[in-house]
Amino acid sequence: MQPFSLTTPIYYVNAKPHLGHAYSTIVADSLVRFQRLMGRESFFITGTDEHGDKIVQAAEKAGCEPQAFADSISAEFRALWPRLGLIPDRFIRTTEEHHKKAVRAFLQKVYDAGDIYFGEYGGHYCYGCERFYTEKELTEDGLCPQHQVKPEYISEKNYFFRMSKYQDWLREHIEKNPDFIRPERYRTEVLSLLESGALEDLCISRPKSRLTWGIELPFDGNYVCYVWFDALLSYISALDWPEGRFQHFWPGGEHLIAKDILKPHAIFWPTMLKAAGLEPYRHLNVHGYWLMRDAKMSKSLGNVAEPLDLADRYGIDAFRYFLLREMHFGNDANFSEEALVARLNADLANDLGNLYSRVLGMAGKYHGSKVPDRGTGGPEEERIRELAAASLANFQTLFGSVRFSAALEALWELVRALNKYVDSAAPWTLAKNGDTAKLNAVMYALLECLRKIALHLLPVMPKAASTLLEQLGCKVDVSAVRLADELEGFGTLEPGTELAQASNLFPRVDTKAEAAKAVPAPAKEAPVAKEKAKAPAQPEAKGQIEYADFQKLELLVGTVLAAEQHPNADKLLRLDIDLGEGKPRQIVSGIAAHFKPESLVGRQVCVVANLAPRMLRGLESRGMLLTASGPEGLRLLTVSEAVPPGSVIS
Ligand code: ME8
Ligand code: MG
Repeated sequence: MQPFSLTTPIYYVNAKPHLGHAYSTIVADSLVRFQRLMGRESFFITGTDEHGDKIVQAAEKAGCEPQAFADSISAEFRALWPRLGLIPDRFIRTTEEHHKKAVRAFLQKVYDAGDIYFGEYGGHYCYGCERFYTEKELTEDGLCPQHQVKPEYISEKNYFFRMSKYQDWLREHIEKNPDFIRPERYRTEVLSLLESGALEDLCISRPKSRLTWGIELPFDGNYVCYVWFDALLSYISALDWPEGRFQHFWPGGEHLIAKDILKPHAIFWPTMLKAAGLEPYRHLNVHGYWLMRDAKMSKSLGNVAEPLDLADRYGIDAFRYFLLREMHFGNDANFSEEALVARLNADLANDLGNLYSRVLGMAGKYHGSKVPDRGTGGPEEERIRELAAASLANFQTLFGSVRFSAALEALWELVRALNKYVDSAAPWTLAKNGDTAKLNAVMYALLECLRKIALHLLPVMPKAASTLLEQLGCKVDVSAVRLADELEGFGTLEPGTELAQASNLFPRVDTKAEAAKAVPAPAKEAPVAKEKAKAPAQPEAKGQIEYADFQKLELLVGTVLAAEQHPNADKLLRLDIDLGEGKPRQIVSGIAAHFKPESLVGRQVCVVANLAPRMLRGLESRGMLLTASGPEGLRLLTVSEAVPPGSVIS
């Protein structure tokens, strides 16, 4: 497999790092980790872009020299990555001597090849965009379409790169290599740019009379290099072009950018490489924009937080999972704390976390927290093995082609299927009936699937996935993992391996305050007077809710361990309910008029588990029982067949 280098953009030091930068870098980190797990040698590059007018202006505003300004913002970028669990192999700064030398060598090479010429140029220059506009590109009022300011008309002598010469070559290259630019919509966009008119030559110099903050041209000391020409070259200067790593990792180079900088990457950069006699990169991976919803939305959770602070608050792994799962690569996505919490609770706590905690809980009960032997399974176990192989294969293909959200969805199909399989295989019944061979087969299949899932989560949630593997007793040397091997065999877990007794890696995020608002308070409504209960309760018009609202409810099945009359209230019962949490919950319920306490013990009930606790006549109630009011009085909501305490209702 060809080694590859992966770059994020080299971020401008004119603004502090924000969510968008973090996203590109997280994606790059995940992709590099994934490729390594696929056995592919990888080199991960990021860095800072420090030359040009914008930086000079930002430094002026801050009242310091461009270099000092660049030093401080570059340091902020560099410091952010480890905080987010990201490990670039090379952090390149365009003000490094090493990089400047590479830029000069490259310029000289293209100059010697005859593809850089000196000429006169007049154009409308926008300082914000750092580029010239032709008349027809401006708005009707003659403004820059990006910044809505009047560009300055500048006529001067400059150096030009003969980009136009490579237009046909580039179009053919893109046509012949359908995934050169991906996803498809950006490939189409570039092809239409190339078709819409003759590609112009690119002005690649700025006279020192106007700008000194740049790399001096090797063939003319009165000019500095245009910032984009300089910045793009960081992708190969970071590989020590023309020697060193470049030889090893190119042309396996890949880039990851947002749609805002498509043109320089899709048009300037490949033609620059071509003019220097170098191979083009392998893939340009283009994502959309994170859009922030209005602050009001975030306020409802009590805290208007910076997205990057949310990574600290909810954990880096959950944050990474959210970003990769929520954004369909290529499209824009909305960022909000609500969306983050909803994913965390639904995908991580309910689906994944619940699966691990149920399986490890049962392994504790039935096998003394050791991997059982492989047992004797039937067609159901065979089906689970096939399902696992199929969903992991999908995950691998999709992740490798930067369809992260779809890849995770494929993996979650397996997670959800396994949760269902626990219900249908009902290990508790097998245990009760002493069907050990089958029980072992079911539990072994579950544990082995959990191991495979954790391995596939390593690129997305490196810490959490390692913990999950540890809980399964797997000592994993990440550098030796080969995900492709996991599509075959199904017996890696060694029977007898010690397992963790419990798994609670993804606790639900407490949205109690929200849930309390969304659910009618208990006790007041619940104790229904007999006469009233005779007639079916009139359903109130409640208005529609979103699925996300429904997901805020934590509905669980519990087993009543004890029930007694409330010491201070006739209508209330005090119950201890096992919700699979280790310690029973005390719930106070207004059902005394309808049920004898002793008739409730041992029954399974449905509970709103994340209702804010409240005091009811001196006793704390932590949750609410669900009941239905029929013509004969209250009925308990229960399940048709026994399930383990803590089973999720959805
Ligand atoms: O453009 N959503 O640097 P830059 C998603 N120095 N990603 C976003 C984003 C958003 N809302 N906002 C920014 C430059 N990004 C040049 C690049 S490369 C040789 C030179 C990300 O600091 C995204 O990756 O403006 C975008 O391409 C990049 O930040 C732009 O960063
Ligand atoms: Mg930008």
